[in-house]
Amino acid sequence: MTTVRLLAISGSERLGSLNRKLLDAAATSARAHGAQVDGIDLRSLALPLYDGDIEKGAGVPEGAKRLREALLAADGVLLATPEYNGFPTPLLVNSFDWLSRLAADGAVPSGLAATAGKPLGIVSASPGLLGGLRSLNFTRQYLSMAIAMMPVPQQFALAKAHEAFDDAGALKDAKHQASVDAVVASLIRVAAALKSRS
Ligand SMILES: Cc1cc2nc3c(=O)[nH]c(=O)nc-3n(C[C@H](O)[C@H](O)[C@H](O)COP(=O)(O)O)c2cc1C
Repeated sequence: MTTVRLLAISGSERLGSLNRKLLDAAATSARAHGAQVDGIDLRSLALPLYDGDIEKGAGVPEGAKRLREALLAADGVLLATPEYNGFPTPLLVNSFDWLSRLAADGAVPSGLAATAGKPLGIVSASPGLLGGLRSLNFTRQYLSMAIAMMPVPQQFALAKAHEAFDDAGALKDAKHQASVDAVVASLIRVAAALKSRS
């Protein structure tokens, strides 16, 4: 069986991000399941807040093309994102909004062609008691309805995330780890099935 390649994305790249920690735990799980995991740092793409005048004047920034390239190379996406007032973060939404503005360029597909039908596993982490649960449906809806990705049914919201990791970055509670594993296993199963048919 060919190896499934996953792209790991965090909706927060701040120093000490709890979602980055959860994403790293999910990536470790995915590697243990036999997947290859590559990451992309959305902050390093240096995308300005979307503005039609920027697009008109200078075109879609290079950072969006880097995101497209990373997505084209992946069989599936593993995503962790914080909840900001019930929604996924501006960093996440802005990055994919810019991606959606990329037209096909010769043999290179459009931004949305790079995401279309791509399996997606979503987790979130918050110091709060709901773990970012309120944002998960919006994240799921945005990335499927608008960005054409294919979220797997399983998801996980890690509550009290500031207490959830040990010093090595591992999840302390086996139930939390099992919930992450369930998202990862489902994502790999769907990505592998689609890859074997293409
Ligand atoms: C603007 C803003 C809005 C927030 N809204 C929520 C919220 O709706 N629900 C929640 O659980 N936490 C909320 N938080 C707290 C975040 O969950 C917390 O800052 C978390 O650590 C951010 O994720 P990160 O650690 O990966 O950066 C909010 C934080 C900010 C800065």
